[in-house]
Amino acid sequence: MLKKILRAVTVGIAAWPFAAASSLAASPKSIDATLTIHADKPGAKIDANIYGQFMEHLGRNVYEGIWVGENSPIPNTRGFRNDTIAALKKIKVPVLRWPGGCFADEYHWRDGIGERSKRPHRVNTHWGGVIEPNEFGTHEFFELAEMLGAKTYLAVNVGSGTVQEMAEWIEYITSPSESTLAKERRANGRDKPWKLDYVGVGNEPWGCGGDMNAQYYSDEYKKYALNIKTPRDNRPIEVASGPYGDGYDWTETVMKNAVKQMGALALHYYTLPSGSFDTPKKGPALNFTEADWIITLKHTLSIDEMIRKHSAIMDKHDPEKKVGLYVDEWGSWYDVEPGTNPGFLFQQNTLRDAVLAGLNLNVFHSHAERVRMTNIAQMINVLQAMILTDKEKMLLTPTYHVFDMYLPFQDSTSLASEVSAPEYKLGDVTIPSVSVSAARAANGSLVLALVNTDPNKGATVKTKIAGAAPKKATGRVLTSAAMNTHNTFDKPDALQPAAFNGAKRKGDEWSIELPAKSVVVVTLD
Ligand code: AHR
Repeated sequence: MLKKILRAVTVGIAAWPFAAASSLAASPKSIDATLTIHADKPGAKIDANIYGQFMEHLGRNVYEGIWVGENSPIPNTRGFRNDTIAALKKIKVPVLRWPGGCFADEYHWRDGIGERSKRPHRVNTHWGGVIEPNEFGTHEFFELAEMLGAKTYLAVNVGSGTVQEMAEWIEYITSPSESTLAKERRANGRDKPWKLDYVGVGNEPWGCGGDMNAQYYSDEYKKYALNIKTPRDNRPIEVASGPYGDGYDWTETVMKNAVKQMGALALHYYTLPSGSFDTPKKGPALNFTEADWIITLKHTLSIDEMIRKHSAIMDKHDPEKKVGLYVDEWGSWYDVEPGTNPGFLFQQNTLRDAVLAGLNLNVFHSHAERVRMTNIAQMINVLQAMILTDKEKMLLTPTYHVFDMYLPFQDSTSLASEVSAPEYKLGDVTIPSVSVSAARAANGSLVLALVNTDPNKGATVKTKIAGAAPKKATGRVLTSAAMNTHNTFDKPDALQPAAFNGAKRKGDEWSIELPAKSVVVVTLD
């Protein structure tokens, strides 16, 4: 398409029987599942960057979502909105990708430095044709990253920029010298260079980023990568633009041609209920049926096969797995909310999105040896957002709550696990009903994320843990009676995590009761 266009509650082992708020009660119909966790078989590190965010100059993501300006009646610190920043700090955003997306390939960094009132106004040709005031530029981005404690990931302009323009931007950002560009940065208010962690060379070069083929792009990529010149102690990881979804030929060509110059390859995949990226039939974010529910989740789970196949191609050219696979755009993509600007990609976010997020995160964890960063699209007010705002009002979406619940997975160590459960089926569509990810958290606790995709049946998961004997469980659950429960500005807490007390131990075995359509994160100590 764009080619053209709790509180946590510690549950003692005596806390059985399961008792919780009515909406969390185990469904009358329930399936039996078994789970084995190998606490004695540690796997790859689950990089915190898997919880990365993406912030494009698109709709109300940057403007209103983050940047309101110093004179706004919305409470702010030097122009940055206080409420959204506080919410983002809570989920420990590890890395932030900016300024696009398709916008990156029309962004000229000089537009966004210097006296704000004098910065040029441009037309945002990709996203609604609105005026881009350039009030938020390089200084604001790096200040935001410092406020959040996030690593910095720039997507540089290949589609309408030059190698020289990129090289000068990078010198402006990173040079400690007395060069003219470093002096200009100081004159604009920043003495020390900023830390530049990742540089993505272009965005979707096969589409909005220049309509290139893989051979041409990888030749261009090498030219750009060679000119990313920074001090030794501030070397960013260089990221080549990758394919969309199952574009395996792109991966093959770019890896073959440029593997020596690459730190990572990017992959984009959006979950559309039906249709394809080029001819989407997205459907509404709120008023969907059970048939829409299951097909959306089926489509989201197909990312597992894509990652496996891209990784196999990468293994051929990079058997030592030096090059990361960064899924630097992912998430659900539905019709925009009625009455909103179609170019702003503003969509609501329901329990379906929470389940979808949990499934994706579990898949990413299972490929942690190659998948070292992902960036959900996008952070605020765009696509599968963490936060929605309406002028001075703000709400946290179900997806935000999943990112919050999954915090113990950041920089944890993955553990092998096997789950066996009857499938969830509707008509001729079938998907796994239970998805599990297990890890050893950085503080030593065992942490389990369990997703029940079946909107009608709970699941009893009989769990054995090899190599550990935890005695107590602490957890949170996100679920609701309706598939499309969501938060609104009038009812911002309609869907939020509740204490989970559905894990009980009998001897060496744990029984974990998952409500229908739920995401559960349990910590076992
Ligand atoms: O996230 C919205 C758009 O989707 C991005 O700008 C682009 O990279 C992708 O096509």
